[in-house]
Amino acid sequence: MTLQELQQEHTASIAALEAAQSLEALDALRVKYLGRNGLLPGLVKQMKDVPAADRPAFGKELGAWRGEFEAQLNAKTAALQANETPTAGFDVSLPGRWHAEGVIHPVSRVIEETAEIFHRLGFTVADGPDIETKFNNFTALNTAPHHPSMDPSDTFWFDVETVLRTQTSPVQIRTMLDNPPPVRIINPGRCYRRDTTDATHSANFHQIEGLYVDVKPVSLADLKSTLAYFAREMMGPDIGVRFRPHFFPFTEPSVEVDFTCHVCKGKGCRVCKNSGWIEIAGAGMVDPRVYKHVGYDPDAVYGYAFGMGVERIAMIKYGIPDIRFLYENDIRFLSQLG
Ligand code: DAH
Repeated sequence: MTLQELQQEHTASIAALEAAQSLEALDALRVKYLGRNGLLPGLVKQMKDVPAADRPAFGKELGAWRGEFEAQLNAKTAALQANETPTAGFDVSLPGRWHAEGVIHPVSRVIEETAEIFHRLGFTVADGPDIETKFNNFTALNTAPHHPSMDPSDTFWFDVETVLRTQTSPVQIRTMLDNPPPVRIINPGRCYRRDTTDATHSANFHQIEGLYVDVKPVSLADLKSTLAYFAREMMGPDIGVRFRPHFFPFTEPSVEVDFTCHVCKGKGCRVCKNSGWIEIAGAGMVDPRVYKHVGYDPDAVYGYAFGMGVERIAMIKYGIPDIRFLYENDIRFLSQLG
């Protein structure tokens, strides 16, 4: 083959690439020119028969041909592949496929909304672990050494010093140990008790703790107005709230807080055991003995605390008759709350 014939083959191969209309046609050209028995490797083998004087020119032309051919082949392959993507010829006016959207679980919704409401009042969200020390869960909260709540029939113990927390109240202790007053926090979290599950009880449930301690006077009236504000924001303006005297070791005085029953609107029914009210929270003014345990001066600080049942609030807010619906994750139940 002369140099001129070589150049003609070169031009023809590029023209063939340009004319190719399919990936199959391109592949056939690749085999024809670059394959093991293809034209270009064959010509390279014939180089030894070319007169020595012509060899550099032949070699240069062969190299240029191969370079151009490969570049054109790659470019054309990419262009044809782009045309064959699934969107080519796709009818964009067809309706899309519908996917069911998930909903946020009612327990999470109550926690998120509560955090928002208290955020408006200047509270931040604190955190604490599910596995607690006996000191944080009981002792520092002024629980008497042999109080029945510490019995293994009520509380899950790991060893004599460690429990699955029975309440979110230990986060009060952690917060005060770590921060000087004033502190103003809420803490949502899981709690564990050895309770037999029924319509209103679960061995694993959620509470939201609240704590406000300041160096200027804070009174029971502040606690009442804060919880009444929360109740209206969470449940709507018609909700009724009442405070009943009670006892907790870590507050003095202590109260229990009830909301009007969602089912009968306060008239009395099976859900509220005919009282018209449902218990939502425990609360009170922080007991001076608790301050002593965390190194606060009981004569220099004032504060209140509260602990609310998240499932109770969810049940009232969404009209859920049985706490177990909240844990079974039955999509037919959850999707009604979207
Ligand atoms: N920890 C209490 C319980 O689980 C609820 C409670 C009562 C929390 C009074 C408080 C409080 O912060 O002041 O029953």
